[in-house]
This record gives sequence, structure tokens and C-alpha cells, in this order.
Amino acid sequence: MSARLEIHDGDITTLAFDAIVNAANERLAAGGGVCGAIHRAAGPELAEACRTAGPCPTGEARITLGFRLQARHVIHAVGPVWQGGDQGEDALLGAAYENALTLAARHGLKSIAFPAISTGIYGFPLARATRIAVSTARAWCEANPSFERVVFCVFGAEAAAAYRKAMGR
Ligand code: APR
Repeated sequence: MSARLEIHDGDITTLAFDAIVNAANERLAAGGGVCGAIHRAAGPELAEACRTAGPCPTGEARITLGFRLQARHVIHAVGPVWQGGDQGEDALLGAAYENALTLAARHGLKSIAFPAISTGIYGFPLARATRIAVSTARAWCEANPSFERVVFCVFGAEAAAAYRKAMGR
């Protein structure tokens, strides 16, 4: 049986999973959005760890501890900046999800929560991004059946509805 894909509406910084994913930038610098919230909740040790773990090219992922977070680890995944859709954005977003999942599995982790990478400051259209997130995670889970839980953590009803639609629910 492959991992359960779930939707959670709320603040990702409060979730106690093996890892939460940060929608990061290539420098792994503390930014705004979910990245800023994760850095605030984790404490200054996270920025220090990011200085060692980075940089991280778009489409790739890096891992650090979670410090003061409930989650034991943070996986920093860098999604693409939306440039209209013909600059490889779909493939780069899929790669960010796949590389984050593969990194989690390589560290023996079994549960992970993702924000909607690239759909805020980076401007990726929400419906298109959620379809990529769900199809990438679903295919990866089928190929990695010992992984237990993949949670899409969203902010608000519109994003939750987009994920439900992408999951065919
Ligand atoms: N919990 C869950 N989701 C959140 C939270 C939170 N606490 N805060 C914001 N979000 C949602 C946003 O609503 C958006 O749908 O996360 C999604 C991703 O938005 P951004 O954080 O803006 O990420 P992204 O578009 O990938 O831009 C990345 O922003 O903060 C900087 O350092 C980051 O430069 C990078 C860029």
C-alpha cells in the first residue's frame, strides 16, 4: 500500500511530522511567506544551519534539523519563480517535490508536510501547481511504498479546494 496523501488546512509550523518542507529560495535565506514563518518558529539556529546546507538550485532540496519546531527536520525545497509557464516551471516544480521526498526517505523519515511551493511570492498559478504536487507525490509514493504520510498543508479554503480537486475528491 502506498502512503496516504492528505490535506491539512492550517499553519505548517505547528505540525509534528518527521519533516516539514520550507518553500525556500536558492540561498536558503530567511524570507517572507511560509519561509519567514518557519524561520521565526524554528529560532535563529535554523538560519545558521541553512548557511551550511545551502545554496540550493531551483528544483533541488536540502535538509536541516527543525530546532524549536515540532517537526524534527526541515526540508528546504526551492520551487521556480513563475515566468509564464514556458521556462520549464512545471518540471522544476515537480523536481522540487520529488527531490524533497527522496531526501526524506534517504534520511529514514516516514512523514512529511508540504506547503503549496511557489504559489505565493513566486506566483505559480495555484490549480496548476496543486496538480503537479499531487501527481508527483502520488507517483513517488507508489514507487516508495514504505513511506507513510504526505500531507499538503494549505492556508485557506481556496487552496484546500484546489488540492481536493487535484486528488479527484
Ligand atoms: N503554513 C502553510 N502555508 C503557508 C504558510 C504557513 N504558515 N504561510 C504561507 N503559506 C502558503 C502561502 O499561502 C502560499 O500558498 O505557502 C504558499 C507558498 O507561498 P510562499 O511562502 O510565498 O512561497 P513561494 O511562492 O515558494 O516563494 C518562495 O518566498 O519567503 C520567500 O524565501 C522564500 O524567496 C522564497 C520565496
